[in-house]
Amino acid sequence: MSISFKEKLIEKKVSNVKKVIMVCSGKGGVGKSTVSYALAKAISENGKRVGLLDLDIHGPVEQLFFKVKKGFSGSKEGLKPIFSDGLKVMSLGFLSKDEPIPIKGKYKEEILENLFSEVMWGDLDFLIVDMPPGVSDELFLVSRTLSKKLVAVVVTTPSLLSLSVVRRMIKLLHQEKVKVVGIIENLSYFTCRCGEQVKPFGEGVEELEGEKVIGKLPIDPKLEEALVFSKKIENASIFWSSIKKIAVEVVEEIETYFS
Ligand SMILES: Nc1ncnc2c1ncn2[C@@H]1O[C@H](COP(=O)(O)OP(=O)(O)O)[C@@H](O)[C@H]1O
Ligand SMILES: [Mg+2]
Repeated sequence: MSISFKEKLIEKKVSNVKKVIMVCSGKGGVGKSTVSYALAKAISENGKRVGLLDLDIHGPVEQLFFKVKKGFSGSKEGLKPIFSDGLKVMSLGFLSKDEPIPIKGKYKEEILENLFSEVMWGDLDFLIVDMPPGVSDELFLVSRTLSKKLVAVVVTTPSLLSLSVVRRMIKLLHQEKVKVVGIIENLSYFTCRCGEQVKPFGEGVEELEGEKVIGKLPIDPKLEEALVFSKKIENASIFWSSIKKIAVEVVEEIETYFS
């Protein structure tokens, strides 16, 4: 398949990005955006240069995690991502705020392509892409255009509903020849005051379609307050300490894969 002019532009704009981590699931509401942001922050705190792209253009939320309220700026060369919290960030949510984003058809395709071809990411070790639920244009755009430097982290909950959708997503990633770094099981358990571990969504799995679960994230009742109101994810210490360990494993796995 010949490569289009737009695809060449995208390749050029991310030429100084070493690796792209697509955080996907197929299922909505399982914690993709939360995990994307938390992974980005944990990896950058370990000394890496990290960017975060919110590709859920109908329901962007990444803007809520940052103190910055202004939109991004542009010049003839392209759009400058927002720099906040040690991360370069791009989300349509910085522009749309509380307004709906009714985009469809060709226009949607164009916006998606522009989000890649126009944004000046500069030098990055990792670009983390927060994917929308489902399997559609976004996934194919990313897997087709960035295949040489792309890996996927798959997010699920232990529920059978989530696992059945995620199973199909992994099969598709295999078909698209996207390397799956691992599965993160979110909302896995919470620990009661009495010390007992409760698993409200089921026991979960250790692997799915040959891909291993690299970490299980607890339900942390402090998470939303920490992310959206105080904007200090460290305040959700139960979640934060778990994702920090997973972030180290994700980076090690990627480095081994590409070495
Ligand atoms: N481990 C967790 N503990 C508590 N709340 C969580 C956890 N993970 C996600 N959430 C909450 O679940 C909701 C959905 O998460 P989100 O990241 O937006 O999912 P998705 O991007 O998959 O739609 C958010 O309100 C988020 O704060
Ligand atoms: Mg999301």
